[in-house]
Amino acid sequence: MEWTQADEKIKNDIVDFFDKDTTCWIEEKAKDIAKIMSYYRCAMMEIETKFKVLNIEYSLKNDRNPISSIKTRLKDMQSIRGKFERKSIKMSLEALEKEINDIAGVRVVCSFPADVYEIAEALLKQDDVRLIEMKDYIKNPKPNGYRSLHIIVEIPIFLSAEKKLMKVEIQLRTIAMDFWASLEHQLRYKKDVEFTEEMAHELMECASISATLDERMDKLRNSVGNNE
Ligand code: GTP
Ligand code: MG
Repeated sequence: MEWTQADEKIKNDIVDFFDKDTTCWIEEKAKDIAKIMSYYRCAMMEIETKFKVLNIEYSLKNDRNPISSIKTRLKDMQSIRGKFERKSIKMSLEALEKEINDIAGVRVVCSFPADVYEIAEALLKQDDVRLIEMKDYIKNPKPNGYRSLHIIVEIPIFLSAEKKLMKVEIQLRTIAMDFWASLEHQLRYKKDVEFTEEMAHELMECASISATLDERMDKLRNSVGNNE
């Protein structure tokens, strides 16, 4: 990991502030965390590649791309700390790997609802992918209308001397689901604006319109024929 000038200053301030033993201990811990985070980054890359491979295969086979976009994100330290606080768990490296499932996140946006399930199934069939948890918010949307298929998987990453099993959170959704979720997120986190019941109701309505749209597009896709 490379140090920027700002990082360097923080590090030097810490070194000046604490005694040598404490500083060594902090540096050691920071290195351990950075190492684990880099393993999560690798696992995220592995999953992203698996989806890219599936997309290429499907596009050759069916002459169209079922995946419209793939985004990855690594949870930042502040959000990790926030999650520990919300769960009232003491932060440690062991707890990090055991309790937090969404340090590595991959979001896959598909064209049609049928693609979401097909792609998810194709991933889960792979023999190095172990399913930990699946939440189907498409069949059972959240009370606010949120829809997506959430999967937590465990996959191996191969290092020079060992194999590490890492968890990755995957969210699969259609373009319509992604459109709703990103606007809902923007509205919910708008500063200094109270989120009223009326707004929540309106959002629910929009979610239902988006679900209908998905259903109709899926039907259209079936009647056009998907060349399979
Ligand atoms: P988190 O503590 O938020 O991770 O919740 P959880 O462990 O119960 O997981 P869940 O599978 O319900 O949701 C995890 C992620 O899905 C969130 O971090 C969001 O990215 C997304 N998500 C879940 N619910 C909503 C929602 O109502 N609106 C939007 N925009 N995104 C959501
Ligand atoms: Mg989360």
